[in-house]
Amino acid sequence: MNLAWGITGAGHFLHESFTVFKELKQEKPELKVTTFLSRAAGEVVRMYGLTGELSGISNGSYLEECFYEDEQGASFPKAGRFLLQRYDALVVTPATSNTTAKLVCGIADTLVTNIVAQAVKGGVPVFIVPVDITGKIESKMPLFIDREICMRCELCPPREECPKGAITDQIDLLLCDGCGLCVRLCSYGAIRSKAAKLKVRDVDSRNVRKLQKLRGITVLRHPSKIPKAIRTTSAMWRDWQKKIKKVRLSHAGLLPLVHVCGL
Ligand SMILES: Cc1cc2nc3c(=O)[nH]c(=O)nc-3n(C[C@H](O)[C@H](O)[C@H](O)COP(=O)(O)O)c2cc1C
Repeated sequence: MNLAWGITGAGHFLHESFTVFKELKQEKPELKVTTFLSRAAGEVVRMYGLTGELSGISNGSYLEECFYEDEQGASFPKAGRFLLQRYDALVVTPATSNTTAKLVCGIADTLVTNIVAQAVKGGVPVFIVPVDITGKIESKMPLFIDREICMRCELCPPREECPKGAITDQIDLLLCDGCGLCVRLCSYGAIRSKAAKLKVRDVDSRNVRKLQKLRGITVLRHPSKIPKAIRTTSAMWRDWQKKIKKVRLSHAGLLPLVHVCGL
């Protein structure tokens, strides 16, 4: 089975999404996963220290590549794979409120919104896990300096030893790769992460409801729902492919008849 995984720039459900794909690969080593990252996803995955884990899921060989939006031009030629039926399904998890909003408006100007558009056009089943569904959510933030704990040491080991030079009096998250060395080096425990509570905006809830109504797209409420969804689909997809093959073969058989009859 060949899966395409679209990641957008959400911290929410990000670890859960990685866990699901890691487990799917462990369960079925023959499974191939191509990962497509929006520009924001490239940054957020790095901030949360997950870049290394990605190479365990998509190892770089054919149909197991990682495609970063930054490297995919403006026209996203790799999206054409969905019209060539290279994938059994596309799973977008996590899907930001930005990507969800674009999808319901039919916009396809990022790598992930574009592969969704091509997948639907190519008849490839699409599963989307939006982060902002309804109510309140709790989301793990990247590392930050807790100013109530920080002692402003003249010689600050995290600042001196950060391999990315990401720490001054604050952490530059665009440089940080979430390695966590600073957490271990600060003897006061001033560098940490925390869970932020946020309210889902009405407009985002409305967009999720609109997304649910789009043909070719199935909305899942949590990454843990992915394995069951793709198992069911892959069985349906195989049947469908078999049917198409049969129709093609029967058409091929009819062609000589068409010639004989002069039709
Ligand atoms: C650390 C971090 C976490 C983020 N988490 C979320 C999130 O959970 N949900 C969301 O909608 N946007 C989140 N964002 C904002 C998106 O990355 C931003 O809106 C981006 O433009 C989305 O682009 P994309 O939809 O093409 O990936 C986060 C940004 C950062 C820096």
